[in-house]
Amino acid sequence: ARILAAVTAKRAGLALEPGEIAALVSDYVAGRVPDYQMAAWLATVACRGMNAAETAALARAYAAGGRRLRLGDTGRPVVDKHSTGGVGDTVSLVAVPVAAACGVAVAKMSGRGLGIAGGTLDKLESVRGLRLDLGALEVRRVLGEAGMVITGQSDELAPGDRATYALRDVTATVDSVPLIAASIIGKKLAFGARALTLDVKTGAGALIPDHARAVRLARTMVDLAEGLGLRCRAVLTDMSQPLGHAVGNALEVKEALSVLRGEHVPGLSEVSHVLAGQLLLSAEPGLGEEEAGRRVRRALRSGAAHETFLRWARAQGADARVLADPGLLPSAPRRQVVRADRSGWVAEVDPRAIGSAALLAGAGRLVRGAALDHAAGVVLRRRVGDPVSAGEALAELHHTREDASDALARAAAAFTLADEPPAARPLVHGFVG
Ligand code: URA
Ligand code: CA
Repeated sequence: ARILAAVTAKRAGLALEPGEIAALVSDYVAGRVPDYQMAAWLATVACRGMNAAETAALARAYAAGGRRLRLGDTGRPVVDKHSTGGVGDTVSLVAVPVAAACGVAVAKMSGRGLGIAGGTLDKLESVRGLRLDLGALEVRRVLGEAGMVITGQSDELAPGDRATYALRDVTATVDSVPLIAASIIGKKLAFGARALTLDVKTGAGALIPDHARAVRLARTMVDLAEGLGLRCRAVLTDMSQPLGHAVGNALEVKEALSVLRGEHVPGLSEVSHVLAGQLLLSAEPGLGEEEAGRRVRRALRSGAAHETFLRWARAQGADARVLADPGLLPSAPRRQVVRADRSGWVAEVDPRAIGSAALLAGAGRLVRGAALDHAAGVVLRRRVGDPVSAGEALAELHHTREDASDALARAAAAFTLADEPPAARPLVHGFVG
């Protein structure tokens, strides 16, 4: 009855007591509240919102019942990074090993895909053998061996977020400032890092597309983190088109490995540099932007970031053959090409259309727990601002389906071609905190 009272109160616009929120989440994790009632509560929160005290209580409730690793006690500065989610957002797979290669310990709890946004855990699962359900002791071991660790929520780590996250993915309750803020900060509490760098996406492909609301999300998370004793800064980055070229799980792992091997991938490379630089600055504020940038470029140029990624992946069980030869990552048997129907410039690549094409092709979930096709996704051949001639490839759909015409139609509809090149867009829209 407590959950129904909470739904009714929230629907009437009332604030809940922290204790009520804590009990609700722990009852849900323990199986005492069914999915449909939790979904009703989440939907009501998504509509009515929550105040700062409620959001902080929800973040704490997500981490409660699990362990609190005090990774900040290990001597080295331990930092953390999280993105609010976007399409083709491969940044973590680049920025985390770069920062680790520069001597900063990065401990990151990632999530699965949410709606059209891919999730780091789903991407990494395409690497055979790589384990992403580490226990507390393993987190410490891997961090010591590799200088970085990436794992998911578990019974031991942020169990409340694990349970509600999977439900939100398939109940259209992702697009909510307090729910996203509590989910992200709750995961961070489990690790107890000293500093957090947030990549808050803004633009059509972000979970919160509206720029003013994205700024509010950034502010909410920075205040929430700092109130809980975690130093925090947010970078607002562009999600008006997919990031880089690859959208889809194994495709994005391959793309990240190519950046780590020194290739330049437009959009992804620049944003990864900024985020890695912020991670260095969060560990050592006196470093200065310029020196941080130099270290980031050096880690990529020297191969140190690539080596760090390989060492880390092996420490979490990855098959060494796959790491040595990314061609062994899952790869789709079918490729269908979207071609330009005229010449001109690419004016728009709608990230929602590309994200849903990838999801329909098998890269994301429509129901909870659905198996993914790790090979599925979209590879962009052209990005906003690129010139194109009639008949040239704009994108390639990778899939294993008998008939993927629905996904192909979405990918084709993503592109707007124009007579003039569009105005250049910034990749970084500002900082909060
Ligand atoms: N990332 C998370 O971890 N949680 C959200 O709710 C959104 C993005
Ligand atoms: Ca990408």
